[in-house]
Amino acid sequence: MKLSLAVEAETIRLGEIIGRSLEAGDLVLLHGELGAGKTTLVRGLARAAGYRGRVSSPTFALAHVYRGSRLTLHHLDLYRLEGGDVGELGLDELLHDPRGVVVVEWPRADVRWPSRRVEVRLTHAKSGRRVRVRDRRRGR
Ligand SMILES: Nc1ncnc2c1ncn2[C@@H]1O[C@H](COP(=O)(O)OP(=O)(O)OP(=O)(O)O)[C@@H](O)[C@H]1O
Ligand SMILES: [Mg+2]
Repeated sequence: MKLSLAVEAETIRLGEIIGRSLEAGDLVLLHGELGAGKTTLVRGLARAAGYRGRVSSPTFALAHVYRGSRLTLHHLDLYRLEGGDVGELGLDELLHDPRGVVVVEWPRADVRWPSRRVEVRLTHAKSGRRVRVRDRRRGR
């Protein structure tokens, strides 16, 4: 699915729509250059998880956890992750959190991500953004 997102609010809205389809154990990979709108989309995901607090880029912290009324969102940003540290992410544990969903900004190509996932690719377009969503969860 390809869409145009003219303003920030539409990126958040798309995040909410994707977020409503998420269930515990789901993984969302967010691709896109600097400033493409990845963290903005996570705001919508967090809203759909029932989280009312602040969402910010975990670039330095590597991960933020948003405990919503519906789901817990684990928000990772691997932009600054050094080479060997991937195994320390504890991705398997996060995906086994019985209420947890994992969303990753800057998903690195050298990580063997589970094939069952949602992929979002954001690009700059004029003043807005273009987005491509690919749902690779089984049976969808
Ligand atoms: N559809 C849109 N149209 C115009 N601006 C947008 C849109 N979506 C998001 N933005 C704006 O883009 C800027 C960067 O967004 P954001 O921080 O989400 O990007 P990012 O991909 O997470 O960047 P980084 O790679 O640095 O983490 C913000 O100012 C946000 O308001
Ligand atoms: Mg970001």
